[in-house]
Amino acid sequence: MDRELYDRARAARQHSHAPYSKFPVGAALRTVGGAVHVGCNVENASYPEGWCAETSAMASMIAAGGDPAARRIAEICVVAGKIDGRLTTPCGGCRQRLAEFAGPDALVYVADPEGDSATYRLRELLPAAFALDRAR
Ligand code: THU
Repeated sequence: MDRELYDRARAARQHSHAPYSKFPVGAALRTVGGAVHVGCNVENASYPEGWCAETSAMASMIAAGGDPAARRIAEICVVAGKIDGRLTTPCGGCRQRLAEFAGPDALVYVADPEGDSATYRLRELLPAAFALDRAR
């Protein structure tokens, strides 16, 4: 676990817009270049239009621009409450979005607001990932 990413993700979670699920989530990522970007889930009355916290953090990273290292994810922390005693891990769609900007060795920290945490590599969360050779 990276303490700065945890603190930033936990703070972003406080800004979540989750009136429908009442399940706030925060995320903070560090690029290969060292910059930190945060996001939170942003829900919508038209439910499928909501964004996950990880997606919001990735959008912030891309919108900030910069050199290739500023657009590659080295590590990301997701903070959310436990569900049935289990830490929240990124949804399937976010795992695929992470694979767009992170390699299989990227670190994915998941944690709850009380500080319980676990660490994965992206390859563990998305084995046999789909990829095209056109993205870079
Ligand atoms: N959610 C995230 O933002 N990230 C995750 O890793 C899991 C789920 C959001 C989506 C929705 O706003 C709420 O949590 C309940 O599914």
